[in-house]
Amino acid sequence: MKIIIVNGPNLNLLGKRENNIYGDETFMEFYEKLQKKFPQIELEHFQSNIEGELIDKIQEVGYSYEGIILNAAAYTHTSVAIGDVVKAISTPVVEVHISNTFSREEFRHTSFISPNAKGVILGFGLQSYELALQSFLATE
Ligand code: DQA
Repeated sequence: MKIIIVNGPNLNLLGKRENNIYGDETFMEFYEKLQKKFPQIELEHFQSNIEGELIDKIQEVGYSYEGIILNAAAYTHTSVAIGDVVKAISTPVVEVHISNTFSREEFRHTSFISPNAKGVILGFGLQSYELALQSFLATE
């Protein structure tokens, strides 16, 4: 089963960015543990700070992979184009957020991705990604 984690802007700064909200661990530290924990999954990771690169990657994998775990970060709340590509592809997308966006500023309460996502997992720290991965295994 091929699953990709697609991370949007500023998520390359995990571990040194607003640690009170996003924690102390870098994404790569967490990702290596996740790969070891789920050896049966062909897990990939892609991160970009650029909207079009995220769209290109989602188009590239969106008709062949079994799942996409998408944290579009701030683009979640602004990008019609990322919402559109999630709607266009056939691979199911689980939207994740590290923080509980509903307990934060009002502009984080809307998502262009949620209406076309298979489901949404948020507020569990980096564990949100693991829960998303488990959701694909549960519905295999
Ligand atoms: C985030 C929440 C977004 O509102 C924010 O812009 C991010 C990270 C999260 O994972 O909690 O960059 O997607």
